[in-house]
Amino acid sequence: MTTQAGSSLTAIVLAAGQGTRMKSTKPKVLHPLCGRPMVDYAIEAALAAGCGDVVVVVGYGRDELAAHLTKAFGDRVRTAVQQAQRGTGDAVRSALPTLDPSAERVLVLCGDTPLLDPAELVRLAGSIEGGAPLAMLTAMTEDPTGYGRVLRDAEGKILAVREHRDATEEERRVREVNTGVYVARASFLRESVAGLLPNNAQGELYLTDIVAVAAKAGGVASVQAESASALVGVNERAQLAAAEDILYGRIADRIRRAGATVRATARIDATVVVEPDAVIEHYVVLRGKTRVGANARIDVGSVLTDVEVAPSALVKPYSIASDSTIGENAQIGPFSHLRPESRIEAEAHIGNFVETKKTVVRRGAKANHLAYLGDGDIGEGANIGAGTIFCNYDGFKKHRTEIGAGAFIGSDTQIIAPVRIGVGAYVATGTTITRDVPDDALAIARLKQENKEGYASKLKARLKASVTKKPSGG
Ligand code: UD1
Ligand code: CA
Repeated sequence: MTTQAGSSLTAIVLAAGQGTRMKSTKPKVLHPLCGRPMVDYAIEAALAAGCGDVVVVVGYGRDELAAHLTKAFGDRVRTAVQQAQRGTGDAVRSALPTLDPSAERVLVLCGDTPLLDPAELVRLAGSIEGGAPLAMLTAMTEDPTGYGRVLRDAEGKILAVREHRDATEEERRVREVNTGVYVARASFLRESVAGLLPNNAQGELYLTDIVAVAAKAGGVASVQAESASALVGVNERAQLAAAEDILYGRIADRIRRAGATVRATARIDATVVVEPDAVIEHYVVLRGKTRVGANARIDVGSVLTDVEVAPSALVKPYSIASDSTIGENAQIGPFSHLRPESRIEAEAHIGNFVETKKTVVRRGAKANHLAYLGDGDIGEGANIGAGTIFCNYDGFKKHRTEIGAGAFIGSDTQIIAPVRIGVGAYVATGTTITRDVPDDALAIARLKQENKEGYASKLKARLKASVTKKPSGG
């Protein structure tokens, strides 16, 4: 959605603080929510609200943050540095000189409010068209502890914002709070921020002090957020968890509206795509660049990270896969493990306790039970028996195994790579393969069986005597 209301809109996203209440060395705004750093959500909201220029104020951990922003947003976002974290007012002050002189309206957001609704930002921006120098997004909450309170006069006009720490008992009873989201006329923002003083409990430059300035110079417009969740400003990990739950709920609802089934306990990251009529069962976790095709089913407890699942594929319960692809109508699991660079083609089957890594399993091939298939290429329709192991590692290097189309690998076979088993070849159960097997050949390498008639009872008698005679010594 890009619904730019009125004249050009510039965004300043405040993200320089360490976030001490998170008790972490990682900058607060880089903590992930549903697989994306927290700051991304505020930036996406600003972009969706039509901001043409987005400046992120960085400070604590700025190299790490700037590197992330470049990777995630390229040139759609730029940064301004706040040298020391002297408060939200000082943060805006650091960004102002970098703004285009022609900027008219400035949207100020905090990088720690990931649940903003772009439509509400557009409404907020529209609310200063009437001539007010400043508009703020407020919210009503049952528990306003920690937030700045919105102080209004008898007629309901906004007078000021008082921080929790600086508020009187009476002011603390106010349940309308500041969400930390504002739209200001650029000229007003420049003047008012220049005049800020650190006369408060924290000795910081509070951006919230510009509200009282605006109240005296034309008034403060306001929009009340429809859901109080907009103000879930994340300061500590409990709030991070609460915001993440809300976001997971929104993601699931978006996917449901598009026509897929998502059970209540599934957790789907913001970066994942799920096509219509797919079914995502309970306790499934989908992460990263995972994509689930139409009519595919991901059954209970499976965890997929960066996996491409083609339409109508079936991932049975408790399968784990990463950085891999699963073809149309292929079947995985239960309890399969696809490690990176596994390519399971259409109609192929990977069954329980089968591990693959850097291996192509071509169309219709099957490995249904207990196998390790690493660094291999398994031809179309080949059958891999239970207990097959690709011995791909000699302690120094990895080696490849190639299995031709239609080959049959009997159970409990060890295949010592590098080696090639030919098209249509047959490897007898229990064989250790050390050399190439030509097309259509039978390979068998195991000790011949010997049966000694009547020998079992004799053997048992001898063994029993050896236990009863000898006194058991300690
Ligand atoms: C702020 C508001 C408060 C509001 C709340 C909403 C002020 C003084 N208070 O409080 O009224 O109810 O948000 O969530 O503005 N930051 C910087 N540089 C700094 C300090 C902070 O960039 O020097 C950034 C932080 O990284 C953070 C944002 O500004 O993303 C807000 O700072 P924070 O310390 O979390 O403010 P709150 O105490 O939550
Ligand atoms: Ca905050």
